[in-house]
Order: sequence, then structure tokens, then C-alpha cells
Amino acid sequence: MAHALYPGSFDPVTYGHIDVIRRASSLFDSLTVAVLNNSGKSPLFSVDERVKMLVGVCSDIPNVSIDSFSGLTADYVTANGINVIIRGLRAVTDFEYELQMAQTNRKLAPDADTVFLTTSLEYAYLSSTTVKEVAYFGGDISKFVPKDIEKLIFEKYKK
Ligand code: PNS
Repeated sequence: MAHALYPGSFDPVTYGHIDVIRRASSLFDSLTVAVLNNSGKSPLFSVDERVKMLVGVCSDIPNVSIDSFSGLTADYVTANGINVIIRGLRAVTDFEYELQMAQTNRKLAPDADTVFLTTSLEYAYLSSTTVKEVAYFGGDISKFVPKDIEKLIFEKYKK
């Protein structure tokens, strides 16, 4: 059984993430999407809110489960017997950081391999950061995130 982990911030989840989740879920027996609880960052959404959003957008994918974690991705995969770490690659600018992270994780968790999925071209430009910036200035984010997520983002900025 190949069990994969897709770790990330997902602040918020975008169509780019959902594309990676759907494709990874069809490649592996099971996929856990896990939100990093990173106290060093000040996210727009709490970990619970991000988990809830992911549960919503993944509700129709049977082999996907949602979780959150603190600390190292390598410790999470080791503790849960996971052998694949999924990361999306959008452009060459992602590569250096992703390569370093994959090699670090391989040292820390030698039984797990990182598998990169190249983001579908239509989402290659997309990031949670740009979605937040466009939404902050009241721009149209309907092409970047599902309707329910769009609503939640604008509710945050109204506050
Ligand atoms: O969505 P992101 O912010 O690009 O995800 C980055 C993430 C969460 C995958 C990465 O920061 C991570 O794995 N953090 C956990 C801490 C860790 O394991 N660091 C060592 C790898 S260099």
C-alpha cells in the first residue's frame, strides 16, 4: 500500500492545490493532506479553519484524509508509516527550495521519497499569497479558489 502525504500551509487552499490533490489521490492508495501548524507565520486562517476548508473541497475524493501537524514533515511521515511526500512544482523558481527540502527530508526520513507533480499549466501562476493579496484589495478571486473558499476569504477581510 502506498500512502502519500501532501503537506503544506494551505492558507487558503487554491485550485492549484486541489489539482495536485486530485492527481496525487489517483496515483496512490491513500493520500493525507496535512496542514502545518507553523507558529512562526501569522496565517490568515487558523489551522482548524484550513483543515475544515480542505475537508470541504476534498469531500468527493474517497481516498483522501485531512490532518494537521506541528514540527517536522519527516517526523510525521515516520510516525504514520508514510512512504511518499507529494509536492507541487509550479515553476523553476520553486525548484531550489523544493529540492533542498526533499533532500533534507530524505536524510531525516530515509524510507520516504518526495514525488513532485508539476502543476497544471492553468494554475502555474497561482499561489495562496497572491490570492490573499488580490482579495485584500477587493479583486476577483473566483478563478483561483472555489466559491465556498472565496466567501470565507472575503469574510476575513471584511473583519
Ligand atoms: O505550502 P508550503 O508553505 O509551501 O509548505 C511548506 C511545508 C509545510 C511543506 C514545509 O515548510 C514543511 O515541511 N515544514 C515543516 C518543517 C520541516 O519539516 N522542515 C524541514 C524541511 S526543510
